[in-house]
Amino acid sequence: MNHDFDNKKIAFIGAGNMSRSIIGGMVGNQFPPANVIAANPTLDKLDALNKDFEISTTQDNLQAVKDADMVVLSVKPQMMATVCEQLSELGEQLNDKLFVSLAAGVTCERIKTLLGQDVPMIRCMPNTPALYGKGVSGLFASGASQTQQAFAEYVMKATGLVVWVDKEQKIDAITAISGSGPAYFFMFMEAMVDKAQQLGFDEQTARQLVQHTASGAATMVEHSDESIAVLRQKVTSKGGTTAAALSVYSEQGLPAMVDDAMQAACDRAHEMATTL
Ligand SMILES: NC(=O)c1ccc[n+]([C@@H]2O[C@H](COP(=O)([O-])OP(=O)(O)OC[C@H]3O[C@@H](n4cnc5c(N)ncnc54)[C@H](OP(=O)(O)O)[C@@H]3O)[C@@H](O)[C@H]2O)c1
Repeated sequence: MNHDFDNKKIAFIGAGNMSRSIIGGMVGNQFPPANVIAANPTLDKLDALNKDFEISTTQDNLQAVKDADMVVLSVKPQMMATVCEQLSELGEQLNDKLFVSLAAGVTCERIKTLLGQDVPMIRCMPNTPALYGKGVSGLFASGASQTQQAFAEYVMKATGLVVWVDKEQKIDAITAISGSGPAYFFMFMEAMVDKAQQLGFDEQTARQLVQHTASGAATMVEHSDESIAVLRQKVTSKGGTTAAALSVYSEQGLPAMVDDAMQAACDRAHEMATTL
């Protein structure tokens, strides 16, 4: 717990999955729940947050934001214009608050325009493993002070690793790497589970085999100083089974396919930034 931020107040606009994981992480790290408020149009998620973490809740976005030092905009990108235009009613009162936007593809400039104020901002690209404290968040600061940046970093560290980027465009790259990344591994794991079933295992055993293999490989990468290429070479005996499989991946162009797929995600993030 960083006691520098003990008395700061945080408002979450939108009480969905991402807000829940950040709030859970913060309260779990002893951030005072009395200083957290979440706003959402419907009551179910608010009631669950109040019950699980004892934070305050409201259905009124303006009420949530009024006393906040940090406002986390955690609605879908398509809802951002509606939410910001509503908050713009608070006018110059917004300028002493730090805005943190989690929305993919909505630039800081666009949010400031929608709010009608040149507010200090952090754009953040999280990912779903945040739900288990294993997330990755890319952060970009626009007009935020050093203290405000430290505050945003403290909040997002409650959900996992934090990486700062120096250009807003790099948030598109973060989106293509860690934002969308869990789904790349899910797709690979799905294909492995399918094949394991074809090879005679029931679905549950196939999933267990693949899941433990994936987390075991990730643990080796995490704990080893060697490059990932060396780790791969070490488990690939010449003429063996792993070599047989990896030569199929190479012949069928796996690295080029990964390159194209991640570029497509990057391009789509950039395209969204020009249309939302
Ligand atoms: N989940 C991820 O892995 C992930 C990764 C990267 C970035 N993000 C970004 O994080 C943001 C939140 O994503 P999420 O997964 O938490 O979405 P989510 O679960 O759909 O949550 C969004 C919440 O916003 C609420 N909402 C809708 N209109 C609102 C309004 N006018 N005022 C206040 N709240 C409103 C929704 O309420 P109702 O349920 O009542 O409609 C919902 O609870 C998105 O911008 C997303 O792009 C998410």
